[in-house]
Amino acid sequence: MRVLTGIQTSGDLHIGNYFGSIKPMIESQQDHEVFAFLANYHAMTTISEGERLAQLSMQAATDFLALGMDPEKSTFWVQSDVKEVLELYWVLSGFTPMGLLERAHSYKDKVAKGIASNHSLFSYPVLMAADILLFGSEVVPVGKDQIQHVEIARDIAIKFNNQYGDIFTIPEFRVDENVATVPGIDGQKMSKSYGNTIPIFSEEKMQSKIIKKIVTEAVPMEDPKEFEGCNVYNIAKLFLDDEEPSPLQERYTKGGEGHGHFKLYTHDVIWEYFRPYREKRAYYEAHQDEVRDILKVGADKASTVAQPIIDKVRSVTGIRY
Ligand code: ADP
Ligand code: TRP
Repeated sequence: MRVLTGIQTSGDLHIGNYFGSIKPMIESQQDHEVFAFLANYHAMTTISEGERLAQLSMQAATDFLALGMDPEKSTFWVQSDVKEVLELYWVLSGFTPMGLLERAHSYKDKVAKGIASNHSLFSYPVLMAADILLFGSEVVPVGKDQIQHVEIARDIAIKFNNQYGDIFTIPEFRVDENVATVPGIDGQKMSKSYGNTIPIFSEEKMQSKIIKKIVTEAVPMEDPKEFEGCNVYNIAKLFLDDEEPSPLQERYTKGGEGHGHFKLYTHDVIWEYFRPYREKRAYYEAHQDEVRDILKVGADKASTVAQPIIDKVRSVTGIRY
């Protein structure tokens, strides 16, 4: 089964991205054909500094390799290295009713948040459909906010196939209900747009400073504390084995310790959890040429899969004459 994931390179990866998307993807490499790419064209809808965008692509590639993306098993590339995606984007535009895009929640939310509306923001789902259809993807694992985008890709594929025959595989979305929404340091959903994230890779001092900012209720030190609903506890438990929360729960209910103690503990747990990945990251950080080579091989592998599909599209639509 071919599983495709795209990740926008629009900021530092945080632990919400890790538990919600990266970890499940790394694990699915064991038994699926994983296609994963860094969506830098999509990131252009939010990043308009060239140097920053370029740097974010390399940074995300380095992070993913450190976290266990296996370029031998999987196909891992940068979106802009397979240019056919832009060709397909145009072709698919002709099969995308305006109403379909006007109904897109993600677009409406972004505009409501004050992001200037422009054509790339509006047609974002068409490019995403091209990402999905160009590689014959069968399953697209997504967070709830992206379900509608996969549905749009399905609608476009069905319309195209109705016109030109069975060219595209009709993709399905998959939402893993077991994947929790990771709370940010203020208790809202962790998201870079809310400025409440804990990055996966940062300096230890910086991580510690961020964790100290986790919002908690004011309870006297000696009093017992509720762990349920506590932001510190909810973040810490992501990193603990199933039987492991109990000692932390006991520390909450016993009293005598303040949230400051639990924050220190949470910092240590997170820092230890990512230690081996940090070491691997240091290697790739020092070998950026190797990262570039891996991405190039990935783009070649992805192109090989895209070629017969785009060839058929060119042929049935008459672009090839
Ligand atoms: P952000 O909200 O920080 O901009 P993205 O929208 O780029 O993050 O999300 C990238 C991936 O990480 C998506 O698959 C999304 O579902 C997942 N993700 C992001 N934030 C969280 C979170 N707080 N909890 C779980 N998964 C998340
Ligand atoms: N829009 C997705 C997100 O914000 C990223 C993405 C781009 C994507 N192209 C894709 C996801 C194709 C899955 C398939 O998370």
